[in-house]
Amino acid sequence: MEAPELPVDPPDVLRKRRSAKWQTYPPDVLPLTVAEMDFGLAEPVADALREAVGRSDTGYAMATPGLGRALAGFAASRWHWEIDPASVTAVTDVGVGVVELLRLLARPGDAVVISPPVYPPFFDWVPEAGARLLEVPLARDGAGWRLDLAALEAAFATHPAAYVLCNPHNPVGRVHTPDELAALVRLARIYRVTLVSDEIHGPLVLPGATFTPLLTVPGAAEVAVSVLSASKAWNLAGLKCAAVVTAAPRMAALAGRLPPDTRWRVGHFGVLATVAAFTGGGPWLDRLLATLDHRRALLADLLRQRLPMVGWHPPEATFLAWLDCAALGPDDQARELFLDRGHVALEPGLRFGAVGRGHVRLNFATSTDILDQATARMAAAAA
Ligand SMILES: Cc1ncc(COP(=O)(O)O)c(C=O)c1O
Repeated sequence: MEAPELPVDPPDVLRKRRSAKWQTYPPDVLPLTVAEMDFGLAEPVADALREAVGRSDTGYAMATPGLGRALAGFAASRWHWEIDPASVTAVTDVGVGVVELLRLLARPGDAVVISPPVYPPFFDWVPEAGARLLEVPLARDGAGWRLDLAALEAAFATHPAAYVLCNPHNPVGRVHTPDELAALVRLARIYRVTLVSDEIHGPLVLPGATFTPLLTVPGAAEVAVSVLSASKAWNLAGLKCAAVVTAAPRMAALAGRLPPDTRWRVGHFGVLATVAAFTGGGPWLDRLLATLDHRRALLADLLRQRLPMVGWHPPEATFLAWLDCAALGPDDQARELFLDRGHVALEPGLRFGAVGRGHVRLNFATSTDILDQATARMAAAAA
């Protein structure tokens, strides 16, 4: 029998949460914005945190050897990816991991390539590391968005310091295929461009697609470093823990040059929760993926019935829907319409780069009731 869907508290209870998603907007607004989920915590994670509080265990993090072992066990069982636990370095979060790696890879003013539309902080992380952004947008065709390998080759030929890959890709929900990743690795090897793969959404690949960790692609180990976290799939973003993973000596040496104090900047609760998620959170993750699969189908129905002018390709991964609302107005006008008239908050497409114009990003990790209400309000606002 299929496991029941994950429950979601009613909005008045969700509004008591003190995190960004439920505190940014007034109570009459339904927030489908920042990538936090409305489901309750996975029991093994909640237990680990409760036990730590019971022990007054609130000091500094001790990530080794637990974090590497937990991630290695999870990666082997889910993705057939053999990670050496010793090649795992704890960092505060994925953002800190990517920025610190870019600081090591890029000299001031060097280019770092990203592919919009992409998670907005990518646009901030590159200059934060002292590098210059070089944008190579995803290509778009009838089937959706994918890496533009020809344009990436042209960019790599100008010798950027690195490419920050989003694997799977937020906001379009694309799971890059083994062939695409193999082609990317080939380009990285030819042009000597280091690949930094943000794989935070790796555990959130939905039924119908298969995740390929970049470091499992033949030849990737020498040119790639990955950054993973349990924070999206188990909703742990506030606890601050992520992992830099390498698989060859040159990249291990790079990780070895991360600032020595990095380990002290990791959240202790983050490590405890992450280890609990990777070791005991599998059954909950399966329920989450089944729930998100149903939400994705529900959203497809609701959009078709209520907002037929909105275009989208259901995501293969993540709980984020990238909606083409160009029919409702230029720039971020649809987002303003939905917020001002419909009291539904969505992420504005332009935050994801110029190619995000006319789009909004909708977070569907919530209850069927909230999705029903939100799409009804959006339809009324668009009418
Ligand atoms: C692709 C991507 N990377 C990183 C993050 C944020 O990760 P962290 O909070 O660990 O920096 C997000 C959050 O949604 C994301 O979508």
